[in-house]
Amino acid sequence: MIRLGVNIDHVATVREARQGSSPEPTSAALMAELAGADGIVVHLREDRRHIQDRDVRILREVLQSRLCLEMAATDEMVEIASKTKPDVVSLVPERREELTTEGGLDVLSHLDHLTKVIHALHAAEIPVALFIDPEPKQIKAAQKIAADAIEIHTGRYANTQGALQRTHLNDIVESAKLAASLGMRVNAGHGLDYHNVVSIAQIPEIEELNIGHSIISRAVLVGITAAVSEMKSLMMSSRR
Ligand code: PXP
Repeated sequence: MIRLGVNIDHVATVREARQGSSPEPTSAALMAELAGADGIVVHLREDRRHIQDRDVRILREVLQSRLCLEMAATDEMVEIASKTKPDVVSLVPERREELTTEGGLDVLSHLDHLTKVIHALHAAEIPVALFIDPEPKQIKAAQKIAADAIEIHTGRYANTQGALQRTHLNDIVESAKLAASLGMRVNAGHGLDYHNVVSIAQIPEIEELNIGHSIISRAVLVGITAAVSEMKSLMMSSRR
């Protein structure tokens, strides 16, 4: 069994292009659920470039599946999460000038701060995943500070080809094994699409894939129902 978390940030990106009310991310989320999404993922960025606070509140109320809130490890975000109570928080690094999340969290360099943030989220009874690169030292550090799960950054794998891509895939395979052996749940995401998802979905330790851009891009052309169900079928058939 492997779950699909559909990231709907870019539905909000289109809305924010005109700063109006359409398309409504919540509608997309509910349609994605009907098409087979096991959860909905949103990244509430510090600069609010796509998802807004109101979106998170409405999604929390109406979703039938799970809500994953991606956020930076800041006081403001911890407060919002503690109030809205997503099913899980995924802590990600954030830089204002980046187009998307460019690398994993450097857990090792921010042990004290991340420990405090995880503690605060646990106090609000919210499980925490850390978005990290597939590197053993980061995985061991994540376990040390009581992360419940890791989300392996698949960007390097997704952005390469051939032998280099196989090396990055191997890093992900080994990282998934290590994290699972340390008792953490293993998710993965970033840059996954209808072509490169199969090798990642085949990794038995991975429980969930979080996928946004490729699904929303396809949805513009074929509709969100077809886009989500095609991705879900591909993932499920990779596991057989
Ligand atoms: N996981 C995390 C932690 C992310 O930050 C993102 C991008 O918002 C994704 C998954 C999804 O990446 P993509 O949009 O490339 O599928």
